[in-house]
Order: sequence, then structure tokens, then C-alpha cells
Amino acid sequence: MDAMQAILTRRSIRKYSKKVVPDKIILKLLNAGVSAPSAGNEQPWQFLIIDKREILDEITKFHPHAKMLNEAQIAILVCGDLNLETHKGYWMLDCSAATQNILIAVRALGLGACWLGIYPRKERITALKNIIKIPDNIIPFALVSLGFTEEEQTTVDRLDDFRIHQNHW
Ligand SMILES: Cc1cc2nc3c(=O)[nH]c(=O)nc-3n(C[C@H](O)[C@H](O)[C@H](O)COP(=O)(O)O)c2cc1C
Repeated sequence: MDAMQAILTRRSIRKYSKKVVPDKIILKLLNAGVSAPSAGNEQPWQFLIIDKREILDEITKFHPHAKMLNEAQIAILVCGDLNLETHKGYWMLDCSAATQNILIAVRALGLGACWLGIYPRKERITALKNIIKIPDNIIPFALVSLGFTEEEQTTVDRLDDFRIHQNHW
């Protein structure tokens, strides 16, 4: 699948099979994540792999839109590391780019994934920090649930004229 096809057909997938996602796929996804651009190349990201059933289930108790974690075998928590931030205020933009790269790579590799919002919701950040025992300098940013899926992923035409401007508004 070429890059355009992966981008245009990426959809949020919330149903996964029980098949375990091999480590070599997870490594490819992390490699996609760290290939994202970042402000001044600060690369302020850290990644936490969650594949313990108790932790995945625990997250569904405080996160109102994360029921798919009861089925998922694995999720990747993308975090910002404030100790690595050299351009203040940009870590969340960099982590967004890394998260999106992971989502597109998931699609390109034939799996499905969904971005579960953590940052900037304080209660989700605090709950995750408690469960995972994350140090103060690390901010959980986005959780990517993923897995093998039977769900169809298709192109949605979102290119509306009203969003496109040229030279003057
Ligand atoms: C910042 C952000 C937070 C999101 N949080 C959730 C979430 O908590 N649970 C969920 O099921 N989907 C979540 N999504 C996925 C969106 O619902 C989804 O991207 C949107 O409906 C468009 O659908 P598509 O991804 O299939 O194009 C989130 C997406 C983004 C970018």
C-alpha cells in the first residue's frame, strides 16, 4: 500500500481480533512514531506498550470512550517527556505528529487502530499516571489501541470547498 492510500483509507478502528500483534510490528510502529517531525528536532516523545489485560481493563473504568480496550490485546501510550523539551510549548504538537505517524503505519501494515484522547483532560492524565506510575516529567498524551481487524477501512471524501482559500480569505 502506498502512502497516499494508507492516509486516505485510514479510519478509526475499534474492533480487534484476539490475535496477538507481533513485537516486530510494534517496533515498526514505534519507528514510524519517532520518524515524525518535531520542533527544533527536540523529539520529546516516550512510548509505553500496554499489553497487560488488567491495565487495559483498568483504563476503561475511567476513560469514557475506551471500551475497545476490553477487546484489544495491546495499546501504545504516546507520552511527552518535559525533560526532553527544548522548545517550550511544542511537545504536544510533536506528540500529535508521532501519534498520527503510528496510525498511518498501522493502516499501511494492514491492521486497525484508534487514537484515544488523554491530554489535555486532567482526570485522564492523573488516572493513567496512577495506574502506570509515570514520573512527574512524563505526560501521557494519547493512547493508540490497535490490533488485527476485519473492519473495512475506506476513503471518506472530506475535501469541502469551504475549507480551501487562496491568497486572501
Ligand atoms: C485528539 C483525538 C482524540 C480522540 N479520542 C477518541 C476516544 O477517546 N475514543 C474514540 O473512540 N475515538 C477517539 N478519537 C477518534 C475520533 O473519534 C475519529 O478520529 C473521528 O471520529 C474521525 O473518524 P476517522 O478517524 O475514522 O476518520 C480521537 C481522535 C483524536 C484526534
